[in-house]
Amino acid sequence: MQNNPHIQEQLEAWVEDNKGHAILGTTAQYIPALGKEDPSQLGICMVDDNGNYYCAGDTDKEFTLQSISKALTFIALSCNYGLEFVLERVDVEPTGEAFNSIIPFEIHRPNKPFNPFINAGAITISALLPGQTSQKKYEFLLHFLEELVGHPLELDKEVYDSEWATSHRNRALAYYLKEAKFLDIEVEEALDIYIRQCAIKVSTKDLALIGLIIAYDGYNPITKVKHFSDEIAQVAKVLMVTCGMYNSSGNFAAHVGIPAKSGVSGGIMAAVPPKLHSQTYEFRAGAGIGVYGPAIDVQGNSAAGTMMLRQISKEWDLSIF
Ligand code: DON
Repeated sequence: MQNNPHIQEQLEAWVEDNKGHAILGTTAQYIPALGKEDPSQLGICMVDDNGNYYCAGDTDKEFTLQSISKALTFIALSCNYGLEFVLERVDVEPTGEAFNSIIPFEIHRPNKPFNPFINAGAITISALLPGQTSQKKYEFLLHFLEELVGHPLELDKEVYDSEWATSHRNRALAYYLKEAKFLDIEVEEALDIYIRQCAIKVSTKDLALIGLIIAYDGYNPITKVKHFSDEIAQVAKVLMVTCGMYNSSGNFAAHVGIPAKSGVSGGIMAAVPPKLHSQTYEFRAGAGIGVYGPAIDVQGNSAAGTMMLRQISKEWDLSIF
């Protein structure tokens, strides 16, 4: 099927409409290398099941996965050890607290971290990746991601160094996890793999493709390769809906209604499942979406990106609800 010029024009117009919302956020100042990005950037890529890409705005730029990696580690680990193994070690409950909060642990003293998308749960599952060292764990994850996107990926060393040097809160969380016996490896090793996965560089196009594969329950409709099981994709989408946008996941579900995962770099990966009864024709057979807009709001989600997804979902009836 041919690329549809109407879709392309619409996306370009919506990037322009939503650019101004960047003033509702700022770049992630607590990671200095992210803090110095130009906050006014906004870009989007969408891909359909035939492999047609529609990219508008600032889409040339690569950026780091940050928390988007948490969804991907969850999937990679579940593929390797099975979903049951992972869900024995991390729950699937939203916290309603900030992504790096220690409060849920202190108050509830749970027998496992609440979910794999808050930092505590993410550090726990990153530490479980196969391999004796953080380097081996990283290589396993990188290989899994490269299979999904179909090309080599790299680490952003500057972002890694910047986060490593300033990761005091994550270090505190990791010590807490160690004390609670959720971590089998050393704190510094666990932090190393976690910060490395956050610093993997991607494009909006890569995120769109992975989003499409998740939307298609682990199947890539373009290459016809099945990467992971329906069950894993299903739980990943549940987590994306309930915890993917942290403590604004409820608002995002109400106003956008697409399973998505954000990162403090300003990236958002969204998975639009097929919707044959949709009121509009665009992306009825589903889509993957990658967004980049580095000015993030207080919850850690791209401010302009979220507003743009709200408009797109409404206009093209993409909500799953
Ligand atoms: O651990 C951190 O704070 C970052 N590496 C990732 C946080 C993040 O992306 C939360 N996202 N919205």
